[in-house]
Amino acid sequence: MMNNRYGKLASLVYHLDKPVGRSFGDVEYYLERLRGVSGPVLEPAVGTGRMLIPLLQAGLDVSGFDISQEMLDYCQRELELRSLTARLELAGFTDYRVDRPVEAIVVPAGSFQLLDSFEQGLLALRRFHASLKVGGRLLLDLDPVAAIVNVQPGLRTWSAPPHGLITLNATPLEKDYCAQLTREMHRYELWEHGVLLETQLEQFSLRWWGVQEMRMALEQVGFTEISVSGGYQYGKTPQDTDGIISFEAYKRQD
Ligand SMILES: C[S@@+](CC[C@H](N)C(=O)[O-])C[C@H]1O[C@@H](n2cnc3c(N)ncnc32)[C@H](O)[C@@H]1O
Repeated sequence: MMNNRYGKLASLVYHLDKPVGRSFGDVEYYLERLRGVSGPVLEPAVGTGRMLIPLLQAGLDVSGFDISQEMLDYCQRELELRSLTARLELAGFTDYRVDRPVEAIVVPAGSFQLLDSFEQGLLALRRFHASLKVGGRLLLDLDPVAAIVNVQPGLRTWSAPPHGLITLNATPLEKDYCAQLTREMHRYELWEHGVLLETQLEQFSLRWWGVQEMRMALEQVGFTEISVSGGYQYGKTPQDTDGIISFEAYKRQD
C-alpha cells in the first residue's frame, strides 16, 4: 500500500473539506509575503490548487507539482472553471523538474511533513535550493509537533452530492519517536442510500520537525537569512499556542 497516496476518495475529501477559496490564514499571509515578486513561483505538493489559484488571481506566475494525479485533476478543473492556466506536473518533492529558476517556492499546509524521513526532507530542501534563483526565497510551513503527536482516532463525514456520503475513519498505528514519525490508517468509504459503493485504505504518515532542526537543515543545504514566525504573524517567535510555524529562507549564492 502506498504511503500518503491522496487517491480518489482522499482527493475528493480534500476538495470538499478545503475547497479552493478556503484559507487557514495562509492565503492572506503568503499573498502579503510574496508582494513585489514578479518572477516565477513554484508550489510543490500543489494539491487541488487551494493556494495556487488565489496566488494566480493576484497576478503571480505560479506553477505546481504533486504526486497525486487525482489532486492535480481537481486543480486542473478548478483552473478551467476560472479560465486560468498554470503548468502542473505529476512529480514528487525529490524528482520534480523546473524549466527555469524560480523566485519563490511556497510549501503551505504542512505538506513538507508528508516526507517520512529526515533524509528525504533534506533531499527536497536541497532540490528547492537548486531550483531557486540567487536572491530567491523558500517559504515553508510546519504544523507544530503537538498537532502531529496528539492526533486522536475518529470518524468524520462529508456529504458528497450526487453520491451521498463519504466517511473517513482515522486510526493511529504507531509513533516512532526516534524517526519523529506518526503513522495512521485512513479508511475512506463512499456510501449511497446506505449502501457502501467504494472503500479506500491509505496509510498516512507525518514526520515532525523541531524548529531548530529545520533551521539547521535549511542552513546545511545553503539557505541564509532564515526567519521563523508563529501563527502567520511575520517575525513573531513561535509559541506552543501557535497553530502553524512558518519558515522563510533566502538563497544568496549557488
Ligand atoms: C495537505 S495537501 C496540500 C495541498 C495544497 N498545497 C494546499 O495548500 O491546499 C498535501 C499534498 O501533498 C501531496 N504529496 C504527498 N506526498 C508528496 C510527495 N512526496 N511529493 C509531492 N507531493 C506530495 C499530496 O498528494 C497532496 O496533494
